[in-house]
Amino acid sequence: MSASKRVDQIAGHLNYPKGMLAGQVAIITGSGQGIGAECARLFANEGAKHTEKAEGVVSSIQSSGGQAIAVTGDVLDDAYIKTLIQKAADFGNGKIHIIVNNAGYTWDGVIHKMTDKQWHTIVDLHATAPFKIVRAAAPYFRVKDGEPRNIINISSTSGLHGNAGQINYALAKAGVTGVTKTIAKEWGPNFGVRANTVAFGHIATRLTAAKEAGAFVQLPDGEKVALGIPQKQKEAAGGQEHADIPLRRPGTATEAASAVLAVASPLFSYVNGETIKVTGGRAM
Ligand SMILES: NC(=O)c1ccc[n+]([C@@H]2O[C@H](COP(=O)([O-])OP(=O)(O)OC[C@H]3O[C@@H](n4cnc5c(N)ncnc54)[C@H](O)[C@@H]3O)[C@@H](O)[C@H]2O)c1
Repeated sequence: MSASKRVDQIAGHLNYPKGMLAGQVAIITGSGQGIGAECARLFANEGAKHTEKAEGVVSSIQSSGGQAIAVTGDVLDDAYIKTLIQKAADFGNGKIHIIVNNAGYTWDGVIHKMTDKQWHTIVDLHATAPFKIVRAAAPYFRVKDGEPRNIINISSTSGLHGNAGQINYALAKAGVTGVTKTIAKEWGPNFGVRANTVAFGHIATRLTAAKEAGAFVQLPDGEKVALGIPQKQKEAAGGQEHADIPLRRPGTATEAASAVLAVASPLFSYVNGETIKVTGGRAM
């Protein structure tokens, strides 16, 4: 049975005939592909309207009866953040209920070779941008209309445990756990906003595909950052690359997104300020 069918069944069982997120407006950054795209699809299945990054994902949601718009841009650009929040609020008739801070990539290097640019780009992308998005959305979360409000920041086992070659990413992904808890403490008491972190282990997406596949991100100054894990790193594991995962396999983007949906849903209505690990049991 597919993950989405399983979720549909749970929703039906608990009596959410229009979906667990019916009437809610969600912003999911980085939803053009990977985990974000799956979040968009699963959220739309549960009745959410949301603001997307990519046209392809939007048209597939619309063709299955969901509602979505694309707001394309770079979360490192302050003007884009302003536009994103404004367009989401317009789309939601003045309301935004959910933010999933998911956009990002890695730019690895060992400590003694890590440049300032590498450091700041990744910290800005995974920690500063989520903060700026949440800050810009404050008027839509600091409200008392009795409707649910949820912020989910995406982290990684690299942030919880550190990872050789990822000191920049480890700082940023550790940082968002503190950001999440601060949001929960500031906006929980008067406004009922829930904030949680979802930390993934190894999920099969472009981020963890072979570097040799040639995917890259182009920075505003033209520099290209290659994406993926070098094949030789996988080969060095001698067929044991999943030895540290009790389930002995990476997760799928759908499995990762299903956990994000669960956290956003009413099933998690009393879970707040937590870091939920979605790792197949890695690094218990
Ligand atoms: N795949 C994994 O194993 C794994 C593990 C832990 C955490 N994560 C985290 O999950 C999140 C999603 O990653 P994924 O695996 O789906 O990767 P992915 O490369 O498949 O998707 C990332 C998405 O983010 C977008 N993006 C990247 N930089 C952006 C920017 N500056 N502005 C706007 N959008 C931008 C990309 O266009 C893409 O749509 C990331 O935060 C990543 O760090 C992934």
